[in-house]
Amino acid sequence: MEQPAIDPDQLKRYSFSVWSFKQGEMVSLMIHIGDRLGLYKALDNAGPVSASELAEQTGLQERWLLEWLRGQAAARLLEYHDGDRFELSAVGSAVLADEEGSLSFAAGAFGGQTPPDTVDKLIEAFRTGIGLSYEDLGPNAAHRTERMLGPWTRQELIPKILPVLDGVVDKLNQGADVADVGCGSGVALVTMAKAFPNSTFHGYDPSSIAIGRCKEKVKELALDNVELFVAGGEDIPSIPTFDFLISFDCIHDMTQPAKVIAAIYQSMQPDGTLLIKDIRSRVDFKENMRNPLLAMFYGFSVSACMSSALSEPGGAGLGTLGFNPEVAERMVREAGFTRFRQHDLDDPSNLYYEVRP
Ligand SMILES: C[S@@+](CC[C@H](N)C(=O)[O-])C[C@H]1O[C@@H](n2cnc3c(N)ncnc32)[C@H](O)[C@@H]1O
Repeated sequence: MEQPAIDPDQLKRYSFSVWSFKQGEMVSLMIHIGDRLGLYKALDNAGPVSASELAEQTGLQERWLLEWLRGQAAARLLEYHDGDRFELSAVGSAVLADEEGSLSFAAGAFGGQTPPDTVDKLIEAFRTGIGLSYEDLGPNAAHRTERMLGPWTRQELIPKILPVLDGVVDKLNQGADVADVGCGSGVALVTMAKAFPNSTFHGYDPSSIAIGRCKEKVKELALDNVELFVAGGEDIPSIPTFDFLISFDCIHDMTQPAKVIAAIYQSMQPDGTLLIKDIRSRVDFKENMRNPLLAMFYGFSVSACMSSALSEPGGAGLGTLGFNPEVAERMVREAGFTRFRQHDLDDPSNLYYEVRP
């Protein structure tokens, strides 16, 4: 069959778009290096800085810093000034330097490249259908997840998110039994355990790596109101135990989400509350296409979320964008819950669901 003629302009545009992803990969690595070396923190509030000044401040090699600084200016992440001076703007600091105080902090998400053996296993998963669990992804991925999701939880959970729930803050102040199902490395658990010392917090996650990181935090902060279990949500107590349960950014990662939501229903006190946080998405792929970062979400899905949700035979495989409001409402009602309220808390990536019996 005769090949259609290729429009040279279209070819250029398409090639440019593909090479832009390669540029993104390279810039991602540079962001990771800058984050690891504390370069964004060194540039924070420092005004225009030369490579030699940065070398003096950090003890790092000037020639290497100059190449990195020029690359960051080329990526428009640093402002360039005459005389080879480079500046991190206030906006740049919020996104790349201020992990504790900025909701926009993103540098923690750039935790290095996917290791070659994980890539091999993902390629194999396309043949077998069976993906990798979070445990299989190893400590690096657990750390990256924690830093990527941490800022919102640390900064907004107590002042903004919990207060929208009916009666939950009062219960936590008085003393409640709380479970975090899929607690990961425990940012939410520890944040709540510090804020509500009268309550007891139980963290469940099948990843021993994540639970290990959580244990370290609990020890460091000498918290005596946290208990941790290497266990999936399927294995939480099957009698009414908890006044409040949360499940953040993980129902879509589970092989058996319906079974876990049913277990949560069994485990909840009759007047309890479940708070689910999950990715902001729509049922219709075409509507999701409006999200300019959609391709990144699909990358997360294949490399982590859907992979985890298919890590056992028969897994539901929802994936990053699979737990949209319609799926959420249907699944919680099927588990026996009768009240379902969606909260949009201006979190750019997530929606929040308040679910009650
Ligand atoms: C994206 S991480 C989110 C962790 C944590 N909730 C947070 O916000 O940082 C997803 C977590 O879901 C956990 N997970 C996967 N399957 C699970 C299951 N069946 N029950 C409970 N947690 C599960 C993974 O081990 C992983 O730690």
